[in-house]
Amino acid sequence: MLRIGIAGFGFMGRMHFRQWKAIKGVKVVAICDANPNIKEDTKRAVGNIKGADGDIDFTSIEVYHDLEQMLDKAKLDAISLTLPTYLHATCSEQALSRGVNVLCEKPMALTTVDCDRMIKAAHKSGKVLQIGHCVRFWPGYDKTKEIVDSGKYGKVIAGMFQRLGSAPGWAADNWFADEARSGGVALDLHIHDTDYVQYLFGMPKAVSSHGGKGPKGQLIHIVTEYEYGDDKVVVAEGGWAMAPTFGFEMSFNLILEKASIIFDITRNPVFRVCPREGEVFTPPVPAGDGYSLEIEHFVKTIRGESVPPILTLEQSRDSVRIVEAEKKSINSRERILIK
Ligand SMILES: NC(=O)c1ccc[n+]([C@@H]2O[C@H](COP(=O)([O-])OP(=O)(O)OC[C@H]3O[C@@H](n4cnc5c(N)ncnc54)[C@H](O)[C@@H]3O)[C@@H](O)[C@H]2O)c1
Repeated sequence: MLRIGIAGFGFMGRMHFRQWKAIKGVKVVAICDANPNIKEDTKRAVGNIKGADGDIDFTSIEVYHDLEQMLDKAKLDAISLTLPTYLHATCSEQALSRGVNVLCEKPMALTTVDCDRMIKAAHKSGKVLQIGHCVRFWPGYDKTKEIVDSGKYGKVIAGMFQRLGSAPGWAADNWFADEARSGGVALDLHIHDTDYVQYLFGMPKAVSSHGGKGPKGQLIHIVTEYEYGDDKVVVAEGGWAMAPTFGFEMSFNLILEKASIIFDITRNPVFRVCPREGEVFTPPVPAGDGYSLEIEHFVKTIRGESVPPILTLEQSRDSVRIVEAEKKSINSRERILIK
């Protein structure tokens, strides 16, 4: 039985908790949250994707308010690190140095310098560090990667990726609004698509980004073109500027020489391959979602089972690197080469 702890029991902590509960041979034995009223506060709805809410039975779960204490006392095999982003690097180091495997939410960290610290700590510990780039695992996104790689429908002509919602309002101290703690909309939200673009096509040669600003001058909407030195057009758009009544959307359209692929999980749930020849169809996808599938991958890796090469720490770091270039492009109004 793997003993699991969850560090940070807000939206993602509770989302991971429900996924852990569905996996055999593991048990969440401890949670840690700085909020002294965390048990009571889990009755409050959180997040922009279904799956985190619902009553939680704390009967056999130790509750800590300090990560060091949980790591010292709870005899953990692994943690979900679902703390605000500015804590990812230091807290990963703390857990790894005690021999605890870490599934750390995306983005890996605020800067590539911090990402490198985490990679070093993982190598030194010999333990597993995996970053929660759930979109690589998400049913539909995963199959699309398979289809592109197979070459069955020819080369990619264009890809348009979208992720839109209103500003996250569920965090008690609104840390998301503080760019120094969250990295803002580009690093927190849009990185999902930056990372997926990297997963599909590798590192871009250059990025050109444009930003929409909020009332305090903060970035709230981003559109990026990723250049690959060939003819394909790859664009991703991410934003926190939608009215709350809009809800949340993650979607894409991918145009290949011999088919178009459409995906939208939220407003009009659809996953469809539209070939130039033959019938429109929805390919079979695994049960679950990006969260459950990334956790299964993490558990298999800890157990030494073979897993497909879905993501590496260096790629997770490189997604932060691309976002850094995107922000630089917005601020300088220039195209930024990625070396
Ligand atoms: N993969 C996804 O789809 C997805 C979605 C949302 C958020 N995220 C990421 O997950 C992470 C957490 O986001 P969230 O939405 O769960 O935030 P949240 O604010 O809902 O939860 C964070 C929790 O950490 C606790 N906390 C803060 N500082 C602490 C400390 N020093 N020690 C212990 N507990 C502390 C807070 O009390 C809170 O309960 C972020 O990195 C975010 O980018 C990922």
